[in-house]
Amino acid sequence: MSPIVSDFITALPKAELHIHIEGSLEPEMMFALAGRNGVKLPYDSVEALRAAYRFANLQEFLDLYYQGMSVLLTEEDFYDLTLAYLRRAAKDNVRHTEIFFDPQGHTGRGVAFATVFNGIHRALRDGERELGVSSEIILCFLRHLPAADAMTTLEEAMDYRQHIVGVGLDSSENGHPPELFTEVFAKARDAGFLAVAHAGEEGPPAYVWGALNALAVDRIDHGNRALEDPALVAELVTRRMPLTVCPLSNLCLGGVKDLSGHPLRAMLDHGLFVTLNSDDPAYFGGYVNENYRATQQALGLSDAELGQIARNSFEASFLDDKTKAARIAEVDVYLNGG
Ligand code: HPA
Ligand code: ZN
Repeated sequence: MSPIVSDFITALPKAELHIHIEGSLEPEMMFALAGRNGVKLPYDSVEALRAAYRFANLQEFLDLYYQGMSVLLTEEDFYDLTLAYLRRAAKDNVRHTEIFFDPQGHTGRGVAFATVFNGIHRALRDGERELGVSSEIILCFLRHLPAADAMTTLEEAMDYRQHIVGVGLDSSENGHPPELFTEVFAKARDAGFLAVAHAGEEGPPAYVWGALNALAVDRIDHGNRALEDPALVAELVTRRMPLTVCPLSNLCLGGVKDLSGHPLRAMLDHGLFVTLNSDDPAYFGGYVNENYRATQQALGLSDAELGQIARNSFEASFLDDKTKAARIAEVDVYLNGG
């Protein structure tokens, strides 16, 4: 017997591969940390802050995202933030998560790399013990800052090499093509880091080509605008390149007018290797299951398609092959009514 329809997404085992940990900072926690740290926020209340979450584009979101980070000062703050995300993700039956962090968003305002990293890492270890959710950490470079700053950050990260699975590229996409970071990514890959990059979220197909060819990425984050270039779609299909798609993020940042026009349907029809993720759930109004549910409703995804997306999420993860196979087997047991 197949699982009860209304519970199908809730209990579906899944991995999350595109989540900025700083984007899981809920307004309530932002105010609590502001109080704990004596930081003054430019809003009187949680409601006033939430009301400001109306974004016409990526940059309008990023301005508030960086402002929100100002309350994160101590190792405990990063610990609390990360453990809160993990507990929320576990409720969505996330069994494995690969979280992004933005060290330059913190070192640039005087918070040490070690403070950020140690808080996140300790929470992930404690969370795995408490919740059984496995995890990896991906360090993202801020592309609106010079490549030299990214290189300095990579050098700082070398001390933590065994605890950081990969590097990524995020922040303001337009005007900051992947090629600017060719040298940084080459050095990171030489040091054994895997690589991902945001591309085609707002930027043109050329930026997706750049992520593939100049940065040699293992996954593309978003990739929506790749659909404008048939040769690029064919290349992504041939390479079986995973795309970490984030529908509610795209809706909130104006990439799509409504979810019924989301490119996920075309991506599936083209045979692209897609996963579903929350991006910045505290800002975009939904964790991973809401992304599954909203796209299911808007695009009429079948249980078989949702099951395939969940399988993809483990296959596209940076877990070792044996663990991947075990997690995919859990999905299959679920899909077969176990
Ligand atoms: N896009 C680019 N950079 C980001 C995002 C995003 O959605 N969230 C946090 N940094
Ligand atoms: Zn993102």
